Amino acid sequence: MSVPTKTEMIAEGKAKKIYATTDPTKLIFYFKDDATAFNAQKKGTIESKGMLNQRISARFFTMLRGKGIDNHYVETLNDREMLVERLEIIPVETILRNLITGSCRKRLDREEGEEPAGPIIEFCYKSDELGDPLINDDHAIAFGWATEKELAEIRRQTLAVNAELKPFLAARGILLVDFKLEFGRTQDGSVLLGDEICPDTCRFWDIETRKKLDKDRFRQDLGEVSEAYLEIDRRTAQ
Ligand code: C5P
Repeated sequence: MSVPTKTEMIAEGKAKKIYATTDPTKLIFYFKDDATAFNAQKKGTIESKGMLNQRISARFFTMLRGKGIDNHYVETLNDREMLVERLEIIPVETILRNLITGSCRKRLDREEGEEPAGPIIEFCYKSDELGDPLINDDHAIAFGWATEKELAEIRRQTLAVNAELKPFLAARGILLVDFKLEFGRTQDGSVLLGDEICPDTCRFWDIETRKKLDKDRFRQDLGEVSEAYLEIDRRTAQ
């Protein structure tokens, strides 16, 4: 079958444009160089980010599928575009923390880089207006965002992603500090991993020096932002 082509743009997020295609079951993600932080209060561009995030996400999705973790990735169309399965978005974002930093460190006044006894999973409500606030299972169920069964499945898949991605990265000298995942429902109602997995949505530290190799370089004005994305691309290509 021929590759579906773009029709109308159905959404534009902070880092991506999403297009419907000639196949109603597929979407095209276009990865932009635009970067925002602190709920879009800080704006900028990161050179080559779109290209690198497409490539890194495609690589992680392919690796995860090979390990039995299915996801929405279908194929890469060009430098900045990937074809994905169309999903009904579940408005619950999942964060998994292997080390404590970012909003969790601030909220609970923990030590930077503290290693908790095990990975911590947090749920957030996907809402740009509200800044993706932290929620718990009861909010998600009571407000109809996800069922109890779906949340259990999201939790299971999030832990499975960590179990594969963490050692994959460690073998390449990268510490997987934390990451955010998004899920959706397929036509048959099952829960499928979607969105992107890249230096915009994960924290990566060099395993030896703990140098930040992710979007925190942009958030915190640390410089060498594109270089960090390029370094993650280079190390994960092997
Ligand atoms: O800021 P916080 O510590 O909550 O972020 C945890 C993880 O989730 C980080 O890897 C961050 O890049 C990611 N995240 C994201 N999108 C958001 C909030 C956080 O990808 N809206």
